[in-house]
Parts: sequence; structure tokens; C-alpha cells
Amino acid sequence: MDKRQKFQILYFIATISVLIGLVDANAEGVSYDEMGADWHEACASGSNQSPIDIPLSMKSSSANANRLKKNDKLDLIVSQGIMNNVIMKDLGTTYQVPFIDGALAFWDENDELETYQILQFHVHAPSEHTFDGKFYDLEIHFVHKHFTEGGLAVISVQFDVEDGGNQDNDFITALRLNQKNLTGLNIPAMKLFEQLDKSKLYHYQGSLTTPPCSEIVTWIVVHDPQPISSAQLKYLDDKWKKNYTFAHGHGNNRLVQPLNERYVYMRVDPSQMDSSQMLWNSFLLITLFSAILILF
Ligand SMILES: *[C@@H]1O[C@H](CO)[C@@H](O)[C@H](O)[C@H]1NC(C)=O
Ligand SMILES: *[C@@H]1O[C@H](CO)[C@@H](O)[C@H](O)[C@H]1NC(C)=O
Ligand SMILES: [Zn+2]
Repeated sequence: MDKRQKFQILYFIATISVLIGLVDANAEGVSYDEMGADWHEACASGSNQSPIDIPLSMKSSSANANRLKKNDKLDLIVSQGIMNNVIMKDLGTTYQVPFIDGALAFWDENDELETYQILQFHVHAPSEHTFDGKFYDLEIHFVHKHFTEGGLAVISVQFDVEDGGNQDNDFITALRLNQKNLTGLNIPAMKLFEQLDKSKLYHYQGSLTTPPCSEIVTWIVVHDPQPISSAQLKYLDDKWKKNYTFAHGHGNNRLVQPLNERYVYMRVDPSQMDSSQMLWNSFLLITLFSAILILF
């Protein structure tokens, strides 16, 4: 077997395993009655679970702030095709839009480049990740699979009436939540990613947030809450968070999980790294200079 054949077989296995994972990723019939506390398998036994509380800065009051690391290597490029004439599935526990024409390139904390292809996006209201303990009104997960390996990368984008602004969002409008017919949607996904400030980037390794909670997810969290109008949000809240017959009206978000031994990486400009380095250098210089003064 030559390299090319091996690559093709690996690619085939990876695709199949991702597709099997995908069916589970937003399984119908998942119960949010206990916000995930009664789920089994890795959901109960894993130590690298998602979602988590994202500490926004070193000085944040988050319990995870001591495991936040600044990094100037993190980078994200997103390229989405035009989501034309797509369908949205109502899985009961979420809305999911399958879509394969899009990709992302991600440079991790070690400057390693990985590329992923989009599979689908789906919604959680309120948000699953919290930010210094704060929930946003809506979090959308753009689920991507690695081009050559088995892992997933999920981009988290948040929407909030207060922090993003109370105005209609074109991306949400395109989902036609006010209609029963969820076919023939045209969704301006690339416009959303063009508007996002992708420099506000956080990254950690975690899991699917629904059973089987497989720990295969590179989380790429862009912290730039987008606008959504309270009228748009109402369609989602009526379905989950304000719907007592759905999980006692909790919403379709899993409880945040302990970070344990993991780190959360926060993107900073190379210049910011340099300035802390410069500060350190000048500190060393002053120390050395004082030592010389004292000695002589
Ligand atoms: C749903 O919307 C699509 C696109 O607008 C249209 O082609 C289709 O006929 C509609 N289906 C129903 C059942 O109304
Ligand atoms: C409330 O939740 C139940 C159970 O999931 C669902 O059947 C019903 O359609 C929901 N109500 C609304 C307004 O979405
Ligand atoms: Zn999700």
C-alpha cells in the first residue's frame, strides 16, 4: 500500500467516524431535565469536558483565571460558502443546519496549523460557555471536522440583547424562526464571520456538550457578542428557556464543567507579548544596574 492509498483509507475512516459522531453530536431525545448532570459515559467520567467558564482576563474573578495563558500564536481564518437553499432541522433539543461548503484554518498555541471543514451549525439558548460567570442569550456552535484526522473544531459565537445590542440580526432573520417552513433558507454566514472581531480569541481542548461527550473537540471561542433583538430571541426562549415542558424551562445548555488540568489560551498581539518581554528585560537591566551600584 502506498502513502496515497493509506491517506485515502484514513480519510475514509475519519469521515465515517465523524459522521457517526455527528449523529450523536445533537442526538434527538437527549434530556436537559438535569442540565446534563444525569448523562453517562464520558459525560460523567471525563475530565476534559465542555462547556466551561471562560476567564476573560488574568484579573478576572473566574475560578479558571489562574489557568489562563496569553498567547500570540493563536489565529483563525474562516471561509464560508453562501448557505443557499439549505434546510434547518428541528431536533427538539436544538435547531441544526447541515452544511458542508466552508472551512477554517486554525493556528494553535504552538503555531501548529490545522484545517477543518464545516459540517453543521446549531444553537443553544442561553449560552453554554459562560464568560467570567456570565451567560449570554444565545450561543451558536459551528461544528467542523478535521480534513485528515478524526477530531472536531467548534467555533462558538455568542449573541446578546444587552451586550450585543437589541436589534434584528440578519443571520438570525435568515433562520426564519417565525415560520413553520424550515426549507429553502439562505443564510449569510460569511457576513457574520466578517463582522466578528476574530482577534478576541480563546481556545481550549474539550468535548461535545451532548452525549456521548467525546473529548475530541478543539474549542475556538470568539468573544464578541453579536446583536440580537428581543423579538428574535423570544422564538428561541419560548421553545426552551421559557418552556416549562422542556426541561422545566432551563434552556438547552449543559452545566459548565470543571477545567481541571487544562489551560485556556487567550490571543494577544505579538506586540503585547513583546512589551511584557521588554518590561522583564528592563526589570533585569535595572536590577543588574542597582547591583553594580551597590557593589561599587
Ligand atoms: C417552503 O419554502 C420553500 C422556499 O421558500 C418553498 O420552495 C417550499 O414550497 C415551501 N414549502 C412549503 C410546504 O410551504
Ligand atoms: C415546549 O417543549 C415541548 C417539549 O419539548 C415541545 O413539544 C413544545 O413544542 C415546546 N413549546 C414551544 C412553544 O416550542
Ligand atoms: Zn452545541
